[in-house]
Amino acid sequence: MIDSHCHLNDDKLFFDLDGIIARAKAVGVDTFTVPGYDLASSIRAVEIAKANDNVYALVGIHPHDAITYSAEVEDILKNLLNNEKVVGIGEIGLDYHYDNSPREKQREVFIKQLELAKKANKPVVIHSREAFLETFEIIRDYGKGLKGVFHCFSGSADSAMRVIKELGFYISLGGPVTFKNAKQPLEVAETIPLELLLIETDSPYLTPHPFRGKQNEPAYLPYIADRIVGIRGESIIEMTIANTKKLFEI
Ligand code: NI
Repeated sequence: MIDSHCHLNDDKLFFDLDGIIARAKAVGVDTFTVPGYDLASSIRAVEIAKANDNVYALVGIHPHDAITYSAEVEDILKNLLNNEKVVGIGEIGLDYHYDNSPREKQREVFIKQLELAKKANKPVVIHSREAFLETFEIIRDYGKGLKGVFHCFSGSADSAMRVIKELGFYISLGGPVTFKNAKQPLEVAETIPLELLLIETDSPYLTPHPFRGKQNEPAYLPYIADRIVGIRGESIIEMTIANTKKLFEI
């Protein structure tokens, strides 16, 4: 299985990297894509990918850190994109829940990184929280021709279908489908075409049931997959692997 979104570059996982990878492999999770969220984590993602087979990196500045974006940062991102283990730009987008960076700055930096992805001809990994409509409109208006995925999708099934039909993007589901009070993620899991579904842990965050309260890691991906299999009543493993490989060209 492929964990399409895990932060092996986060200190919580990085300091036990060999153990984390070994535990994942023991349960059949053997490939990992690691998004950056600021400059340091992007650089670290590339270092981890270079040092480990079956680990791929993405580089990008999260909306939380939009305020740190500069011409110098963009130049470093461009250089990182030249590495063959860098398979995309992410995670990028809008986060109106925490508003850690001003919204105007978030939008500006999101658009700049979409432009960067177009020039580099790489897919994008989208983070969108409480900002679905604006995220959608910015991709529609500035991301023509781009491939991408809405990671850990938290919107409605209708929104997911708009992403699929109007943007042609993938939808990725994670730990929230396993939560006891889950509603929208279940509807999304049930209704979206299998050809456009990815799965992820987003570790060290969003730990699936029954491990909530513990730190998340890629070894828990099978719990997320099993839950979606239960909802859909069909196998999803082979198709989600194929989808991830196709999106990131790995
Ligand atoms: Ni993430």
